[in-house]
Amino acid sequence: MRFEGSTNYVATPDLKLAVNAAIALERPLLIKGEPGTGKTMLAEEVAAALGLPLMQWHIKSTTKAQQGLYEYDAVSRLRDSQLGGVDGGRVHDISNYIVKGVLWQAFEADEQTIILIDEIDKADIEFPNDLLRELDRMEFYVYETRQLIKARRRPLVFITSNNEKELPDAFLRRCFFHYIKFPDKETMQSIVDVHFPGLKQSLLKEALQVFFELRDVPGLKKKPSTSELLDWLKLLLAEDIPPEALRSQDRKVSVPPLHGALLKNEQDVHLFERLVFMARNNR
Ligand SMILES: Nc1ncnc2c1ncn2[C@@H]1O[C@H](COP(=O)(O)OP(=O)(O)OP(=O)(O)O)[C@@H](O)[C@H]1O
Ligand SMILES: [Mg+2]
Repeated sequence: MRFEGSTNYVATPDLKLAVNAAIALERPLLIKGEPGTGKTMLAEEVAAALGLPLMQWHIKSTTKAQQGLYEYDAVSRLRDSQLGGVDGGRVHDISNYIVKGVLWQAFEADEQTIILIDEIDKADIEFPNDLLRELDRMEFYVYETRQLIKARRRPLVFITSNNEKELPDAFLRRCFFHYIKFPDKETMQSIVDVHFPGLKQSLLKEALQVFFELRDVPGLKKKPSTSELLDWLKLLLAEDIPPEALRSQDRKVSVPPLHGALLKNEQDVHLFERLVFMARNNR
């Protein structure tokens, strides 16, 4: 089983290598990279390309590792026992109140699955440690029903992180790691081609120029990334903005139209406006 890329997703050779290395090693693939560089989409595309079902687990600050395994719904059980009308046998059998989590569902699936643990760095620092054994051995124990749940087919695991928190060493040791480098111009051009196949080359060229110049402005709090470029292009197309409008006549920098798609806070907009103003005055 190998991942060779997909028509919807531009995977660089080093990214494909990393995916295939993780598959061969049977270890989770830990993906980092700037927001909007295709980390989440990678898991979706690998699943689609390999024809495997994708089980997604989106992590929040309140997510606990246990929720990925199962939860015991004591509240429902209490309610059923008090309400009456519910079959007493049902209330007595605790397994009726065990709610399966994403990992359990993946473990019991007949075919091999792909598990996406998205944005693992959102959870508290115990979260990755609490999953070490489950991801290593692909099994866990359900104390309430005294069952051992073991994966029928070892799932492929994708884990994404935006680096908001460090991950523990013991966890890192078990993963294969890949950092999605920010796409160079050529790769970005291919990504845009995937999303806007018929885009006018003149507009694409100007837009990419403006975009990469903007990313180069020193001191930006939030550099625009792939998804912002795609949003911006969509707007440019919708508003029918010609390539010439992306630059002033003297081909010096100007504040690009619809820059709200690219710059996401007022400090960055001010910084950029100041820079444009200085560039103009230096002529
Ligand atoms: N290599 C790529 N090929 C095609 N489209 C891409 C690629 N990289 C990014 N995109 C586009 O950018 C969008 C954002 O990608 P995605 O949501 O996977 O980013 P992310 O890295 O998970 O971001 P975040 O860290 O904010 O969750 C995608 O919906 C897709 O349209
Ligand atoms: Mg994501």
